[in-house]
Amino acid sequence: MKVTAAVFGLLAFAATIEAAPKTNKAGSEASIANLKDKIKNVVLITMENRSLDNLLGGQKTKGIENSVNNGPYCNPLNLTDTSKGKACSKPKDYDSILNDPDHGVPGNNIEFYGTFLPDNAAIQAGKLKPTMNGFVHEQLRLYSAKQDQSVLANQVMNYYTEEQVPVITGFTKEFVTFNNWHSGHPGPTNPNRAYIVSGTSAGHGTNDADFGKSALTQHSIFEQLSSQNITWKNYATVAGGGDAMYFASTVASGDSKTKMKSLSEFYQDAYLGRLPQFTYVNPSCCGVGTNSMHPTGLVSDGEVLLKQMYDAIRNGPQWENTLFIVTFDETGGFHDHVAPPLAPRPDNLTYTVATPDKDQYTFEFDRLGGRLPTWIISPWVASGYVEKLGVNSDGETVSYSATSILRTLGYLWDFAPFTPRVEWSPSFDHLILEKTNNKAKPQVMPNPIKF
Ligand SMILES: *[C@@H]1O[C@H](CO)[C@@H](O)[C@H](O)[C@H]1NC(C)=O
Ligand SMILES: *[C@@H]1O[C@H](CO)[C@@H](O)[C@H](O)[C@H]1NC(C)=O
Ligand SMILES: *[C@@H]1O[C@H](CO)[C@@H](O)[C@H](O)[C@H]1NC(C)=O
Repeated sequence: MKVTAAVFGLLAFAATIEAAPKTNKAGSEASIANLKDKIKNVVLITMENRSLDNLLGGQKTKGIENSVNNGPYCNPLNLTDTSKGKACSKPKDYDSILNDPDHGVPGNNIEFYGTFLPDNAAIQAGKLKPTMNGFVHEQLRLYSAKQDQSVLANQVMNYYTEEQVPVITGFTKEFVTFNNWHSGHPGPTNPNRAYIVSGTSAGHGTNDADFGKSALTQHSIFEQLSSQNITWKNYATVAGGGDAMYFASTVASGDSKTKMKSLSEFYQDAYLGRLPQFTYVNPSCCGVGTNSMHPTGLVSDGEVLLKQMYDAIRNGPQWENTLFIVTFDETGGFHDHVAPPLAPRPDNLTYTVATPDKDQYTFEFDRLGGRLPTWIISPWVASGYVEKLGVNSDGETVSYSATSILRTLGYLWDFAPFTPRVEWSPSFDHLILEKTNNKAKPQVMPNPIKF
């Protein structure tokens, strides 16, 4: 018998774990038919800059490979001089940290491979594997002059306990969490956000000026849905300006920018049953008082946003046919122990950048970024289930990633993959159950706490 939150009140989450459906294969006719039958509205929010081992490192749900279940994980303080000692992952993280970890392409290189300049050919040949050992070293290199060494090590290695992040703990216990979900690009925000909405960053490897000028005009989900008369809205915490525009203009095709709506309109639409078929929500970024969880914004402020969105969707009339996807753009330079896999190039573009050592590094967009927290939330998903690797349309068992969203939406709304990367990505339509007791899902998420 499934013990539900309804029995024990709002704070006691379902104690049993429903198995994922065994009958439907991802992308099969039966699975797509079931997806279309159950899901009429999709709500997607992309939060900022957190790795799985950071934000979900303290979640005890079985199947999540993290510090509390499988760790601790350690990094040397200095990659070349191990006599300096090491730092290991520990419970209790800061509500925010002041020293934003390096998450550019060279920063990710040293964090994953121990060098700013890894040999691309050796990576592709499988001869150079990420050790995920350089997070503390890079944080110390950047900030040792202004911050204590143990504080810096804690900033990148420590993790949030279940008690520190009650909303996220609720999502994990009541819905489906992905254990193997990676960002599309081992670099910063805007290229990753472009992968989510368009399946490529069009050769952009960093947050360059083109994003601010709406100069990326490759085919996007917004343009695609408009061409099919599928309704969508692009909501932002601050409509029409400020940091929200920084995200919203990531890819400008399909009037994604000019048709922006405010977040208060999202709450009205959710409670009153007026959500469009596709809802895209931009959190605010990135300093004190913003809600994306990006340093120096507080994790607890991000929890408030996620709770408010959940509560509005859950209590609105569209809940029974809604799929709410919560993901992150990238890992923000926080430690994660899972090596990011190789992935097909979305196009033939490359990105060249000077490393901190003044070498030139050229990236071909042929591997994924670090592992991220991602949940799918719906009355139609199992409670407390952890999904590991996916199976793509070629039958390969591979990691999920940013472009798994476009792969799945393509099945829901009948459009082809925009890029080879999207085509390669496993979809998650099979995690939508054929039968469920949707009354079992909590009416609201618990209150976030300040810590
Ligand atoms: C690591 O140790 C080496 C050798 O002592 C030193 O030259 C280097 O500056 C150290 N690197 C960092 C980032 O502290
Ligand atoms: C979308 O709606 C317009 C206006 O009603 C119509 O002309 C067009 O054929 C529709 N397109 C599709 C793909 O349904
Ligand atoms: C990359 O270039 C090659 C050779 O010109 C071409 O065959 C291939 O289709 C291109 N790939 C993509 C994804 O555009």
